[in-house]
Amino acid sequence: MIALGSDHAGFQYKEKIKELLISLHLEYKDYGTFSPDSTDYPDYASRVSNAILKGEAERGILICGTGIGMSIAANKFPGIRAAVCESIDSARLAREHNDANILCLGERITPWEKAIEIVKVFLTTEFENGERHCRRVNKLNTLPQALGDHT
Ligand code: RB5
Repeated sequence: MIALGSDHAGFQYKEKIKELLISLHLEYKDYGTFSPDSTDYPDYASRVSNAILKGEAERGILICGTGIGMSIAANKFPGIRAAVCESIDSARLAREHNDANILCLGERITPWEKAIEIVKVFLTTEFENGERHCRRVNKLNTLPQALGDHT
């Protein structure tokens, strides 16, 4: 299951991503927004993050104007690893190295032709699961306690 969310600035891409997921026979749940009216991105980042943390969805896609507000909001939830991706390489590496569980896109930044490829790569790339990547991702889960005082 893929959890989708956007604010008004990402609404058109969210609707198009739904069509893409249908064509790929992938299940999704839409956590809003449900109209192009102005709204607040933290509300949707919160719903999608909670869906993942509760196990209702394996991955999420959040879209706002830049992807940045969504990522800041989603990364406040321990266990969420949200990556803003503007390139196909960053989408692949966010999965391979960071085990990112949410992709954040900027509808005002990334053209649709590239965004669609970024979504496909994010959804089809597995975490590399190597020793060094696991160690680093585990540290993310326990920050800041895990690292002590590195000042
Ligand atoms: C909304 O105008 C815009 O600020 C929002 O979509 C997002 O880009 C914030 O990061």
